[in-house]
Amino acid sequence: TPKGSCLESVKIAIDTGYRHIDGAFVYYNEHEVGQAIREKIAEGKIKREDIFYCGKLWNTCHPPELVRPTLEKTLNILQLDYVDLYIIELPMAFKPGDAIYPKDENGKIIYHETDLCATWEAMEACKDAGLAKSIGVSNFNRRQLEMILNKPGLKYKPVSNQVECHPYFTQPKLLEFCRQHDIVIVGYSPLGTSRDETWVNVSSPPLLKDPVLNAIGKKYNKTAAQVALRFSIQRGVVVIPKSFNPQRIRENFQIFDFSLTEKEMKEIEALNKNVRYVELLM
Ligand code: A2P
Repeated sequence: TPKGSCLESVKIAIDTGYRHIDGAFVYYNEHEVGQAIREKIAEGKIKREDIFYCGKLWNTCHPPELVRPTLEKTLNILQLDYVDLYIIELPMAFKPGDAIYPKDENGKIIYHETDLCATWEAMEACKDAGLAKSIGVSNFNRRQLEMILNKPGLKYKPVSNQVECHPYFTQPKLLEFCRQHDIVIVGYSPLGTSRDETWVNVSSPPLLKDPVLNAIGKKYNKTAAQVALRFSIQRGVVVIPKSFNPQRIRENFQIFDFSLTEKEMKEIEALNKNVRYVELLM
């Protein structure tokens, strides 16, 4: 992101009323997020405990001995004492080192064999040390979740699983499984992504152009984006819409003054194409 735009956006978001901020070391803007939070605390607008910051453990840092130092690095960048949630960003590990995407001479990602359960135990230790209030996962499928849930001596269950989730990719089975296990689904790309061809499958049509979302929006004087977000929160899915535009940051927060009928929820659920925008081909 252009220098400073994240700082400004997070400050506007906090002023608007957002409290949950989804970040990651690999977004390379954690310093700006931390600065925005600290400035808003200094202004007296919020207290640290009002904010819910989620950080992420990157793929090159899965070996258990790297987990705590990696979180400490994030805290140092944020200039905060703890994160509210720390999650394993992806269930697959890359070769540890400075390269975020380590590649061999043929340009292929170099994976790294680690035991996800051992990584999880190191995450548990971070919670015990008070560096993370809660711990969770991201991009985990049911089998990977079960591996953690069935781990002998499990101390803490993942509280959440952050996955792609929106009207074109509704995740009914994973949602039901997570409900049964008290795991909150946090839906990323809730607006259907930025459609950046370098990482998005753009063969799936743009979510916000969908006629059903727009027609329902018209009825409530809301945009397709607001309907998409409302749909997710109404089915218990946490949303983390991304915007660096002040007007859209505010727009995406105006979703608590209307509700969708059961029939509308069903209509939107029926839009599911079961196709991901974010294929994570690496
Ligand atoms: P921008 O940052 O210019 O607002 P997702 O959250 O699904 O990843 O979607 C993010 C993309 O959607 C970004 O390109 C963002 O652009 C755009 N966006 C965010 N909010 C809205 C909105 N209310 N209406 C239309 N586009 C939006």
